[in-house]
Amino acid sequence: MAASPRPINSAIVAMQPSAIRRISGLAARTPGCISLALGEPEFDTPDAIRAEAKAALDRGETHYAPNVGTPSLRRAISTYMAGQGLSYSADEIVVTLGATEAISSTLLALLNPGDEVIIPVPAFVSYESATRMNHARPVRLDTAANGFQIDREALRALVTPATKAIVINSPNNPTGCILDASSLDAVADVAAAYGLYVISDDVYNRLVFDEGYERFAARHPELRDRTVVIDSFSKPWAMTGWRMGWLAASEPLLSQIAKAHQTAASSSVAFCMAPAEVALGCDPADMLATYRARRDRVVGALNDMGLPTRRPQGAFYAFPNIEATGMGDEEFCERAIAEAGVGLVPGSCFGAAGHVRLSFCVSDADLDEALRRLAAFVSKRQGHATCA
Ligand SMILES: Cc1ncc(COP(=O)(O)O)c(C=O)c1O
Repeated sequence: MAASPRPINSAIVAMQPSAIRRISGLAARTPGCISLALGEPEFDTPDAIRAEAKAALDRGETHYAPNVGTPSLRRAISTYMAGQGLSYSADEIVVTLGATEAISSTLLALLNPGDEVIIPVPAFVSYESATRMNHARPVRLDTAANGFQIDREALRALVTPATKAIVINSPNNPTGCILDASSLDAVADVAAAYGLYVISDDVYNRLVFDEGYERFAARHPELRDRTVVIDSFSKPWAMTGWRMGWLAASEPLLSQIAKAHQTAASSSVAFCMAPAEVALGCDPADMLATYRARRDRVVGALNDMGLPTRRPQGAFYAFPNIEATGMGDEEFCERAIAEAGVGLVPGSCFGAAGHVRLSFCVSDADLDEALRRLAAFVSKRQGHATCA
């Protein structure tokens, strides 16, 4: 008789399907539900970018691309980053399968089993799962009580001999907050003092509404030997399905991450390289103006409902506190789907219970209707809470 198969990777087995998927599935199965759960632009990729993809296919760009990306796209990214005040040569850039693979490959390259990664929360879910996949441990720094900013002493208190890296994300998914100068300096001080890597996930850097935004790598070039900048074509140019992103780091670090990328992906998509170059020259100003107008409407409406909401400074999410309703965030989201026909994501998915994430990547008509439904749902609930 054949012996039973040996256990597979315990870190994978331990991974739970995300509540985001469960809630989005519930919203999708509920007739008439307007989902504000998805973190992706509802716009189509601009015409010029799509036209270049068709041309690239016609030119026969269907073979393996160089592992790290075409020289032409890497040069274009280098020039684009220089325009943003970030100095990385073409040789210091790897084109990846979206930011998702850039995050995974970076952590794969950096982490040994037992290492720790400090993640200020609320945060995008992949940082924790990609850390765990490497048999390393995510360590949360709760920023909710500090206005979603990073406190130097709180950060320092989490450092142990096992700490390897800090992951930051500004503008942030799910809060829309941008890290202020003192948060960036706190990260830099601690990274410098303890020899930690800084992974700066900047995928929303083109979707910033207010003044005062600074990139970590621009403010702290003295730490370029330990900084990894991650960016993506997905959000500014509505290219989520293209799976195109990149990472930039100094050569000694980059060459190690490139090995992880080569193992995980071989290369990014050949016929998406030329269109990605076109994207770098497209100005997402129209989309940004639309998001900004929606941001103002959403924040006003949520605060009027009695759900305290910070004004997001970037990205396309609002993150209201729903504690006043007396419901937990998962219950709030389940009932919002069932009773109001509105899909939202529980804050606990991002490490911040008591909040929900609302994405304003839907048509203005759907957004207005969803806010109307939500107001009725919350006021009914507040009526119950007052009577109880
Ligand atoms: C903060 C953050 N980083 C990375 C990603 C992944 O982006 P990509 O589509 O480039 O893989 C997302 C997607 O939602 C995100 O919100």
